[in-house]
Amino acid sequence: MENTYLIEFKDFSNQEGHLTPIENCRDIPFEIKRIYYITKVKPGIRRGFHSHRKLCQVLIAVHGSVKILVKNPFEEQIINLASPIQGLFIGPMVWREMYDFSEGSVLLVLASEYYDESDYIRDYECYTRESNEFYLEI
Ligand code: TYD
Repeated sequence: MENTYLIEFKDFSNQEGHLTPIENCRDIPFEIKRIYYITKVKPGIRRGFHSHRKLCQVLIAVHGSVKILVKNPFEEQIINLASPIQGLFIGPMVWREMYDFSEGSVLLVLASEYYDESDYIRDYECYTRESNEFYLEI
């Protein structure tokens, strides 16, 4: 789908456990300005319900699993993030919803910009209007 794709990270595994390194601008396609993580999400909770105008993010289920719905006015996809060596890149103007967080799951998010509420589009009708223009231009 436009502006979303999976990234496979390195995996150094042995009897002592698993290690995954992520290097700025090398393993992900932008400079990381911010990280945050989502934990302790109760069963049945759905989060997200927004798009960003400029922000790029990579989402990683570092523990457990979480489903991510990504959509634009023309296509829609559900990705089951369930591996710490996999990241989901989400670029600008992609609507996202996160749900089915497994118990104890940790969703790590790497972001290309500092937090800026004005970059969010939280109303789906506004998103449809703005994204129609965005996708017609690219
Ligand atoms: P929000 O982005 O709405 O979370 P989600 O999309 O996962 O439901 O953020 C929830 C709250 O946290 C909101 O009040 C803004 C705040 N917040 C920050 O202050 N800094 C951040 O980097 C993020 C991601 C959120």
